[in-house]
This record gives sequence, structure tokens and C-alpha cells, in this order.
Amino acid sequence: MVTATRIAVIKERAAGETRVSAIPETVKKFIALGAVVAVEAGAGDAASISDEAYREAGAEVGPLAQVAKDADILFGVQGPEPDLLAGAKPGAMLAAIVDPFGQRARVDAYAAAGVEALAMEFMPRITRAQSMDVLSSQSNLAGYKAVIAAADEYGRAFPMMMTAAGTITAARAFVMGVGVAGLQAIATARRLGAQVSATDVRSATKEQIQSLGAKPIFVESVAGIEGEGAGGYATEMSEEYQKAQAELVSSHIAKQDIVITTALIPGRAAPRLVTDAQIATMRPGSVIFDLAVAQGGNVEGSVPDQVVVRHGVKIMGFSNTPAHLPADASALYSRNLYNFLSAFWDKEAGKPVLDEEIGNAVRLTQGGKVVNERLLG
Ligand code: NAI
Repeated sequence: MVTATRIAVIKERAAGETRVSAIPETVKKFIALGAVVAVEAGAGDAASISDEAYREAGAEVGPLAQVAKDADILFGVQGPEPDLLAGAKPGAMLAAIVDPFGQRARVDAYAAAGVEALAMEFMPRITRAQSMDVLSSQSNLAGYKAVIAAADEYGRAFPMMMTAAGTITAARAFVMGVGVAGLQAIATARRLGAQVSATDVRSATKEQIQSLGAKPIFVESVAGIEGEGAGGYATEMSEEYQKAQAELVSSHIAKQDIVITTALIPGRAAPRLVTDAQIATMRPGSVIFDLAVAQGGNVEGSVPDQVVVRHGVKIMGFSNTPAHLPADASALYSRNLYNFLSAFWDKEAGKPVLDEEIGNAVRLTQGGKVVNERLLG
């Protein structure tokens, strides 16, 4: 008889990390697959999930050493320090948002420890992996939260209001970068009653912007640029395009009250979209939320987790935006993990057996070595 696969859920230790990598619902589902689930005591505290709720779902709850002992699979939100994995079985899988480019030494340590580390953010952008995509699930919430946080800092209301004491005009919100986060930011700002416009380097986003009832702001004069590379990600743009975009944005931004920037290019520093000179043209009291602040920032002068005031404009951004919605971010992340591993669950082996396409994309280390193409290149 095969012994049941043991899944260990590790409590997050990084500063400001409030999420957890399993919720009672996914604990039950993994148990239904035949796994044993062990959750480190207190792992769900910051996401409002008690140890008792995990126990009721059927999990063992205990201190790390007990939970990680003989684990076949370890779950983290962020990549755990390698010494936290002590006691796991040799060759144990670790699934987490590892930040392989930023945490290269940690990836090497996973290899040395004989762990099979899987980077959830390397999930390929293919239709069947959509429900496993942590970048999407977390970016969607981040886009929402960015607008809510910006609205909270803004000294005015978003919707137009006609009151006995006079009319309040609607806020003008501009979303730069219309991927998953940007689309949700547009939808959220619209729901709050703002007049919304948006831009991206990928021309495919134009229709998406319109379908959400927002106005697209696009460079039309520079021909032949689609801005879309492999897997639907943005590519770095030509100098000519960047110049034309900067000019268009400059004239538009001066009239905006709220700017949300979301532009990322995988494996590189975030592109600079808003300069100090552009900020100087904005109305005092305007708010800029830089969702890329932790990746180097889209906005000149943005500092993670601070509200910086420049030329009377508030510039803000969180180092970990999804962590500001711990319960929903944990639920979606946990379901991504479940959708991923259950899709590959081999009934006979009683454990997940990854296929080549997805396995090779997410696997960072195996058999004591770093094996991922993107890290070896
Ligand atoms: P992202 O987080 O990599 O970037 C955010 C946005 O910024 C992108 O739309 C990008 O084009 C834009 N951007 C980059 N440089 C810019 C610049 N200089 N100026 C303005 N905008 C700039 O992108 P995200 O949110 O991960 O999604 C990108 C695309 O991938 C979307 O079309 C999405 O629908 C697709 N996708 C597909 C998935 C699947 O099929 N499994 C999963 C996730 C996303």
C-alpha cells in the first residue's frame, strides 16, 4: 500500500506577509484526494483563519518541526527560508511564489537541500493553466486594492454628486498598463463613479478598455508595434515608441486626479512611465498608486509602503498589495495550488505527477540541481 502523501503548510515569516497557502476548503479537497494535510500552528492567523478551522477541515495542526517532518509536498506563499524545510522527505516538492530572479541564492539552496522547488509565478499562460495562475489571481485583487487605497488617500470623492450644497465633479482616473491588475483597476474605478481612461503598449487591450466603458489613450502614429511578446507578456518598446508614448501621456496626465500604474516586464525592472516633471503638471491633491513599486517602480519617486508628496501630489504603492486583502488573496492562491496539483494527481501513485509542459515551466530545482531554462539561460 502507498502511504498517503503528506502536505505541509508553512506559516509565512516575511515581514508584511499576511497570506496563507491553504484554506479549510482546499485542505478538505486535498484530503479527499487521499493526502494528509498538516498546517503549522498560527499559519492562518493574519488571514482570519483559526487553527480550529483547519482542524475541523481535517488537518493536523502543530509546530513547524512536527508539520514538516516527512512531508512530501510543502506549501508556502513566498518561498520559505531553506532551513524551514528540514525534516521533509528527500526530493520533497515545494510550491510557492519563489521570486526566482530576486532570490537566486535561495533557489540554489533549495537545489542543495534536494528539494524540487516549483515557482508558481512561472505557470505558463495557456488556457488550461488559467485556474492555476497565481499572477492573475493576485494581480486581480491588487488592481482592486490599488484603486481603493488611492480613493482613501484622495481628498475628494470619486463619483459625481449633486447635492443641495452644490455639485461635486467626478474624479478622472487613468490606468497605465492594462493586464490583469489594470483591467480590475478600470472596473473598480468605474464602479466608484470615476471617469476612466487607460493605456498599454499592447494594442489588443484597446478593445478591452472600451468594453469596460473606459477611454483608450493610445499612440497611433508609430506603426508596426504590437508590443506583445511570448505568452501575452509585454516586450520592451523601441525608443521611438517610448518617446511618442511619453508625449501623449504627458498631455493626458496633467488632467488626471488618480493615476494607477501596473506595467511590468517579466525578469526586468519595471518600465518608468511617470516622471517627476509630469507629476509637477498634475493638480495638487491628485494621487498616484504605483503597483510596480516593489519591482523598481513605474513612477519616479515612489517608495514602497509610503505616501510621498511631490509637487502636492501623493505618490504611493505597497510592497505587497495582495497582502492587504489577506482572506481573498489566500483563498484564491490556495485554490490555484489545488487546481494545479489536483490536475496532475496520479491516483495510483497517490501524488501529483507533473507533465512536461507545465512541469518544465515551473520546476526550478530537481535532483540537487537548478534545472529551469529561465535560470540557466
Ligand atoms: P503584466 O503584469 O506582465 O503587465 C501589466 C501590463 O503592463 C501589461 O498589460 C503590459 O502590456 C503593460 N505594460 C508593460 N510595459 C508598459 C509600458 N511601457 N506602458 C504601458 N503599459 C505597459 O501583465 P499581466 O497582467 O500578467 O497580463 C498580460 C496578458 O496576459 C493579459 O492579456 C492577460 O489576459 C494574459 N494572461 C493570460 C493568462 C492565461 O492564459 N493563463 C494568465 C494571465 C494573463
